[in-house]
Amino acid sequence: MTNLSVNLNKVALLRNTRNIGIPSITRMAQICIDAGAKGITVHPRPDQRHIRPGDVYDLEEVVTAVEFNIEGNPLEASFMKIVRQVKPTQCTLVPDTPDTFTSDSGWDLTKDQERLKPIIQELQSLGSRVSLFMDADIEQISLVPATGAERIELYTEPYATAFREKQNLEFIWQQFANAAQKAQELGLGVNAGHDLNLDNLAKFCTIPNILEVSIGHALTAEALEMGFSHTVQEYIKILSKSA
Ligand code: PXP
Repeated sequence: MTNLSVNLNKVALLRNTRNIGIPSITRMAQICIDAGAKGITVHPRPDQRHIRPGDVYDLEEVVTAVEFNIEGNPLEASFMKIVRQVKPTQCTLVPDTPDTFTSDSGWDLTKDQERLKPIIQELQSLGSRVSLFMDADIEQISLVPATGAERIELYTEPYATAFREKQNLEFIWQQFANAAQKAQELGLGVNAGHDLNLDNLAKFCTIPNILEVSIGHALTAEALEMGFSHTVQEYIKILSKSA
């Protein structure tokens, strides 16, 4: 079975619009863990627009029985400072620039392979598994074993877009299936993430042996939809006793 790692970035984004600590990141992490999530993911960006370094240190106390996955660009000093202290289960290395809206492509290893090698070695010496965020591109994936990384995370936005727009879906799904198979033949574990949701996840996971999906944006939006009715009823219960 594929593990779910819940990405809490969007919960932090909401929390950051007030200074009263709700929704609490650690409480949401505990709720996810209690519900069966096998991991918690965060992406502490340099501009601290959602997850802040303090959240990562707080989560370290809570995320003990499941995997803690920290994503980010290791070529930025702030990312390395955090992961050196926290030593998460998994570091997912992403080639995004500080002003990237959201991660939008995998590594170009023809360019960055040599720079990544010593970083990957250091992260592994801290005890973290290393996963590289990659496009479904067999040539690029063929370069991963030489970096020493144990896993890749397939950047699934093109699949999600094909699913949503009902265009080239089978062709794009097959590209991802081929990429995953190639990675597995090379001895790499395969994770996946970006824009996966309750509608498109089942088809994606017909690709064999996807080890983990990390999901944040849609899961948070779906939680709002699935939780609003119950919450509104709780408010009305209180108001029904009003004077
Ligand atoms: N994987 C990586 C590397 C990401 O940057 C993100 C978004 O933070 C995700 C997975 C999760 O994507 P989404 O929020 O669309 O579920």
